[in-house]
Amino acid sequence: MIVIGSNSEVAQAFVEKALSSGEKFEKIFLLTSHRETTEKFARHIDVKYIQTSEVIELDLMKENNFQELENVQSHLLFCAAGFLGKGTEEGLYDIHNTRRIIDINYAHLVPLITYFAKKMETARHGTIIGLSSVAGDRGRQSNFIYGSAKAGFTAYLSGLRNYLNDKKVHVMTVKPGFMKTKMTEGLPLNPALTASPAEAAAHIYNAYRKQKNIVYVLPVWRYIMAVIRNIPELIFKKLKL
Ligand SMILES: NC(=O)c1ccc[n+]([C@@H]2O[C@H](COP(=O)([O-])OP(=O)(O)OC[C@H]3O[C@@H](n4cnc5c(N)ncnc54)[C@H](OP(=O)(O)O)[C@@H]3O)[C@@H](O)[C@H]2O)c1
Repeated sequence: MIVIGSNSEVAQAFVEKALSSGEKFEKIFLLTSHRETTEKFARHIDVKYIQTSEVIELDLMKENNFQELENVQSHLLFCAAGFLGKGTEEGLYDIHNTRRIIDINYAHLVPLITYFAKKMETARHGTIIGLSSVAGDRGRQSNFIYGSAKAGFTAYLSGLRNYLNDKKVHVMTVKPGFMKTKMTEGLPLNPALTASPAEAAAHIYNAYRKQKNIVYVLPVWRYIMAVIRNIPELIFKKLKL
């Protein structure tokens, strides 16, 4: 398995869910911008599941030439990389914040996933799981830079799924609502609409086994976003969402 954003609690819960469900991987490649913390997780799964894993340093703030990734290959790619950044009030006119949100969620992530998609296309086998967001379903005033990067990422995954469909490679788009992770630390989240990393991972893993195309975590978000998407613009622009 290849994991992008390995330090995400959801990514780690997904890895553990797959391993505890009996999946076997020749190697788990953990791509991360935090080598030290990810090394701890690597040792944990190596010991607990008698697994071989390798930690590879990768910073999505920088353009990657993929040189170090030449030998990295697998039939399963799980991408949890993402960056929320500052919301509109504090962040809209902070160009560095904007650049960072776009680079990590889209601009530098898409070439990386495409690099691995090519290997899967050649092997004619594989699944790519990409964590996008409900924020990409409609631009809202509270966080539309992040939302627009995720909207781009969702469209990318949709097109990639379409392109790889007859090449035996499956692409699954995951649209989380709220998840209780370090990304949302300190935010006032409605518990009824919030998944723990373990719940999210179990839901994503079951959807992966069923080869679903688009998955909402939690499922209630599919209906919430259907309502939000269908509010007429004349009304929507006046709402504080
Ligand atoms: N939490 C939510 O409520 C929520 C809602 C909707 C969508 N999502 C999406 O779900 C995914 C997982 O989110 P999470 O809640 O687990 O958030 P998280 O804990 O912040 O995880 C995101 C991961 O992205 C990676 N990342 C960040 N900056 C990076 C950089 N410069 N270079 C490389 N990797 C970088 C980090 O992994 P490393 O430290 O290993 O580099 C980080 O652990 C993200 O795509 C997020 O946008 C989350």
